Amino acid sequence: MFVTDRVRLRPPTPDDASNMFRLSGDPDLHLITDDEPFLPRHVGQVRARLEKQVTEPPDGQTAVSLLAETVADGTFLGSGVLWGINAFSRYAHLGISLVPEARGQGYGTEVIRLLCRYGFRNRNLRRLELETLASNTAMRRTAETCGFTHEGTQRDREYDGDGFVDLVIYGLLRRDWTP
Ligand SMILES: CC(C)(COP(=O)(O)OP(=O)(O)OC[C@H]1O[C@@H](n2cnc3c(N)ncnc32)[C@H](O)[C@@H]1OP(=O)(O)O)[C@@H](O)C(=O)NCCC(=O)NCCS
Repeated sequence: MFVTDRVRLRPPTPDDASNMFRLSGDPDLHLITDDEPFLPRHVGQVRARLEKQVTEPPDGQTAVSLLAETVADGTFLGSGVLWGINAFSRYAHLGISLVPEARGQGYGTEVIRLLCRYGFRNRNLRRLELETLASNTAMRRTAETCGFTHEGTQRDREYDGDGFVDLVIYGLLRRDWTP
């Protein structure tokens, strides 16, 4: 579907439930990837949601969630999402979460680049943005490597489990994008 030499993005199937649960079932990961309270779920609930999507696929108008895996042998890497898609003003947000053993090897950069390609070319968006905790050096560096500009900082915006911390906002315009 969306692929580089090393990474493929595709819709998850019910058989991916246990891998997807590694992301959604981790309360510490949740604190840095989501600003809603963590709700414990079991893997069966993740599978049920994916099974429902087989018969009632999400319409993709406001969000598209994809699984990332290696091309070589299908090893699970994590997920990437385009969310908050606004077809009127033609912008969307990017989200990404990789399992620990997949980090720091360039996969995040490739996933973000694939999401940008999908957003700009296939969804004809004009602007992509991402938000992350100011302390998330890996995400900030990945965004910058992919051409995003630091556009602002919201002070004490997010709860990180210990206190309230700054949120940084990055943006990339299609006219500044290098495919
Ligand atoms: C953030 C994340 C997606 C980055 O993906 P990744 O595959 O680890 O990053 P890459 O290997 O592609 O590295 C991209 C850049 O970030 C830098 N980097 C990666 N991990 C880093 C770390 N822990 N500290 C500092 N820099 C780091 C790399 O050196 C590289 O810099 P360069 O382009 O100047 O060489 C991944 O680490 C992750 O999923 N983390 C947990 C979930 C998360 O934080 N998601 C984002 C929430 S908003």
